[in-house]
Amino acid sequence: MPIVYDPFARFYDLEYSHKEDDLPFYLDVADTYGAPVLEIGAGTGRVTFEIARAGHEIWGIDDSARMLAIAAKKQKTLAPETNARIHLHQADMRTFDLPIRFPLCIIPFRAFLHNLTRADQLATLHTIHRHLLPGGILAFDLFVPVHQVLSKGEWHVDIPASELADPAQNVSLSAHITHDPVKQWLAITNIYHDKTADKAARERKARMKYRYVFQPEMELLLLHSGFATRACYGGFLGEPYDFHSGIMCFIAEKMTTRKRNSTA
Ligand SMILES: C[S@@+](CC[C@H](N)C(=O)[O-])C[C@H]1O[C@@H](n2cnc3c(N)ncnc32)[C@H](O)[C@@H]1O
Repeated sequence: MPIVYDPFARFYDLEYSHKEDDLPFYLDVADTYGAPVLEIGAGTGRVTFEIARAGHEIWGIDDSARMLAIAAKKQKTLAPETNARIHLHQADMRTFDLPIRFPLCIIPFRAFLHNLTRADQLATLHTIHRHLLPGGILAFDLFVPVHQVLSKGEWHVDIPASELADPAQNVSLSAHITHDPVKQWLAITNIYHDKTADKAARERKARMKYRYVFQPEMELLLLHSGFATRACYGGFLGEPYDFHSGIMCFIAEKMTTRKRNSTA
């Protein structure tokens, strides 16, 4: 996979730093299952820093040097005791290798869906499995591929500057999305219109893809990788999963070899 988020990095916090709906879920799993926490796709530290502020040690990996550079700049502004709990590393989620084992791994904000093939999905889950302690927990959220999205082939969304985190920056966004139902891919082209930049830099393009998964498909991927699904919620406050909620929050447990054999 190319490093997808490098071209997005400059605009990421403008688009998402005000997202807070998932924080109670990830803070709750960190309080319940303990630290050190491993975070996959830590990005600019939106979730990472909240978990560290709550008193938990956290190790985050991300493959985008530019996203991590923004995180590192923000990390310097944190209180020294919070800063000391954070360890960020540039690595690919399919192949990373860290020197410690964790009781909990989180993958916030559907970063798992950047695995575009079954081989990528399984490589990521196997690598996480290897980094968890016996009985360790994997908690993550995905979007549900709802019918309204699956019925379309191609569509367009405009987001005005007023809906981004800092309207004063006068950056707006046009997103063009195409759907490949065979590969289960949504391919997104974002064009950021930066009215304050000089002419040559006024339009910045960035592309990414998600491979969506259905709930039973995710459970099978987990099972195949040595995880038992303990819960799948329909929201960040533990609401029952009902498909239309648009969100799946999974809690899965690393199985021992004996349990794996009896589940097969
Ligand atoms: C939706 S962002 C989430 C960032 C942050 N966790 C948050 O919630 O704001 C997805 C993140 O996954 C990272 N990512 C995508 N593919 C990756 C890969 N193969 N290995 C590691 N990180 C990856 C991106 O660079 C990006 O920072």
